Amino acid sequence: MEVIIRPTADAAAGLVARLIATEITRHPGLVLGLATGRTMERVYSRLVELHDTDDLDFSRCCTFNLDEYVGLAPDDVHSYRTYMDEHFFNRVNIDRRNTHLPNGLASDLDVECRAYEAGIRAAGGIDLQLLGIGRSGHIGFNEPLSALRSRTRVKALTRATIEQNAPLFGDPSLVPSRAITMGVGTIMDARRVLLLATGAEKARIVATAVEGPITAMISATALQLHERCTVIVDEDAASELAGADYYRWIFASEPEWEPFREE
Ligand code: F6R
Repeated sequence: MEVIIRPTADAAAGLVARLIATEITRHPGLVLGLATGRTMERVYSRLVELHDTDDLDFSRCCTFNLDEYVGLAPDDVHSYRTYMDEHFFNRVNIDRRNTHLPNGLASDLDVECRAYEAGIRAAGGIDLQLLGIGRSGHIGFNEPLSALRSRTRVKALTRATIEQNAPLFGDPSLVPSRAITMGVGTIMDARRVLLLATGAEKARIVATAVEGPITAMISATALQLHERCTVIVDEDAASELAGADYYRWIFASEPEWEPFREE
């Protein structure tokens, strides 16, 4: 795992977008794992910008989102499909047939989860997985005690997650209580992982996830076992990291990061 600290949330999201763009330029048929949430809005808006100004081409990309609420239709205003359409898919040249989210209205949710895993396998696996982190340390909706080898399945959301997402629904009682989510094991199979966290409210959980012991209570800690995981944070989210000076030095000195030092 490596940690990259950028001065602001915009710079952190901009770096994530540039890393994604670099991979797509190298491998136009990239299989991308995508996340939703407030943190990702900046990333999608930078990717749209790169599409508009630098002709970043998504036409051959294939995407799999981490999760979807159970009980919401794809065209529901609060569904993650709607979020993805509004923030990203409708604004770039991606082929909609290559975009995948679990179907929260499937009549048999277990069959839907198995089919989602099969779809990822059929696409050749996820090349680059984008992640946010919840205040409880979840990645996807892998709430506390999610098995570190879990696959796509239905999870009950914690009260903390429901409260975190309530502002988007206007009222906590309207937030669905369950979601289909890729498992921790599904995420760990991705060839490369980028986790983005910004803002002071994420500082404690980022430090715990990156520098704390690996535990199923905090699914993000499993990423310490991933061979190619980069955690990108702004200064606010980095404020509780014990090794921050070392992480800053890595970005300032390692040749791999040289092309990305200019804002
Ligand atoms: C969303 C997802 C979640 C979010 C996390 C952070 O698809 O998988 O794990 O990434 O809850 O959400 P924000 O960015 O809204 O704080």
